[in-house]
Amino acid sequence: MGERGKHLYSFNFKYKPLLKYAHYFRHSLYSYLFISIWFLLLFFFWFSSSTTTRVDSSLLHSGGGGSSTRVQVKVKNKKCDGSLFVYVYNMPAKFNVDLLQDCRHLNMYTDMCPHVANCGLGQAIDINVNGKSSTSSWYATHQFIAEMIFHARVENHPCRTWEPEKATLFYVPFYGGLHASSKFREADLVERDRLALEMVEYLRQQPWWQRKQGRDHFLALGRTAWDFMRTKEGQDFGANCLLNLPEVKNMSVLTVERHPWEGHNQHGIPYPSYLHPSTSLELVRWQDKMRRAERPHLFSFVGAPRTGVQKAAIRDEILRQCSSSQECYLLKCERGASKCHNPSDVLKVMTKSQFCLQAPGDSFTRRSTFDSVLAGCIPVFFSSHTAYTQYAWYLPQEKSEYSVYFPEEDRGAIIEEALRKIPKEKVEKMRSTVISLIPRLTYMHPNATTTHFQFKDAVDIALEQLSKHINSN
Ligand SMILES: *[C@@H]1O[C@H](CO)[C@@H](O)[C@H](O)[C@H]1NC(C)=O
Ligand SMILES: *[C@@H]1O[C@H](CO)[C@@H](O)[C@H](O)[C@H]1NC(C)=O
Repeated sequence: MGERGKHLYSFNFKYKPLLKYAHYFRHSLYSYLFISIWFLLLFFFWFSSSTTTRVDSSLLHSGGGGSSTRVQVKVKNKKCDGSLFVYVYNMPAKFNVDLLQDCRHLNMYTDMCPHVANCGLGQAIDINVNGKSSTSSWYATHQFIAEMIFHARVENHPCRTWEPEKATLFYVPFYGGLHASSKFREADLVERDRLALEMVEYLRQQPWWQRKQGRDHFLALGRTAWDFMRTKEGQDFGANCLLNLPEVKNMSVLTVERHPWEGHNQHGIPYPSYLHPSTSLELVRWQDKMRRAERPHLFSFVGAPRTGVQKAAIRDEILRQCSSSQECYLLKCERGASKCHNPSDVLKVMTKSQFCLQAPGDSFTRRSTFDSVLAGCIPVFFSSHTAYTQYAWYLPQEKSEYSVYFPEEDRGAIIEEALRKIPKEKVEKMRSTVISLIPRLTYMHPNATTTHFQFKDAVDIALEQLSKHINSN
């Protein structure tokens, strides 16, 4: 509606003075003029919206120094190409939307009510980066909410089919992550596992399950695999048994963090970040802005010290190096309301940095990795399980094309020195690769009409790759 609405508005506005003098004209001449202008405009709108939208990027960056590279976006009608058809199970509501009714108690640290709003995108926010504010398409999206966004996206996907006999993929929209976090403190293991067991019982009764024993079925989970793989040995940190169930082992499981050694049927999907655009143009504008962003800080770190002995070692070392370097911007996360939970503050740091340190947190992966890519900041990893063994569907195979790696063994490394040694041209090439990854790591707005979206987003890639994977097995 945006562009079109503006044209109509300016048309009405300009026309008013003419109307004022209408009585000077003969009525017929007036009607003739009116109708022909109307047709001209109609033709213009139809023509311009159905072919190519040209954007002069100097308009998008007033104050951008007047350089005017032209950004062209071909608006193609994205239809299903027929390579896959996904059927969405219409499950009893207790497996998904009913869980949201008690949104206050879905997570023991946070009231999830604001976060489950807007199909999981959360609350719309005003992002202010580089002194310019932008309201559309930005949300304070919770890091563990991918399953809701995925659900909403698949429901509106052009390759969704309502005929199971036609389907090549069967999506089981179970909000397993939200359910798991609501039961982390449940001491009764039978109760903690109950819904997962009911879910597989439901599936076993479906005729389409029996056809391939679930090989073409999949789950999408917004939390890490560790939360669903309780072990008999070891400490109980609240996990349930979902991913250990034999039925689920026959399915594919999409998760923000797969188990690096045992997750044979698990595939990494991106953590959601804050941008959920409805049009390709919004993405192209953002990418362009990130290419031009000035990055005065060589590197930055957004994070908190951890108390777990193993993790604390590497984190403490990173914190120490960052705070003692003139070239590092440290955004320290404190308990409670802190800047490092405010999307604007996080992005402000990252868009001003060339490299963003990604130390493992409570688990190997971090949402911050995806925030950093969105901000055009080259990620620096300290474990191969933070990204390399996780997101094979999404990231280039050659890790040095888009990231810097300090192996775990290499504790003595001086980060600043190593980063400073990378030649400028190499840094620019890496950044350009990082920025080119933004679309595929983004969850587009679930209500976006695919007509206005030329890129493949995180969900498109997941369906495509999953389909290939299942067909080759
Ligand atoms: C998408 O559109 C539907 C129907 O108009 C609406 O109920 C829903 O809230 C919208 N979703 C988002 C995320 O805005
Ligand atoms: C898993 O699949 C195999 C065949 O691929 C089948 O024999 C087995 O019964 C399935 N397990 C369950 C629990 O459905």
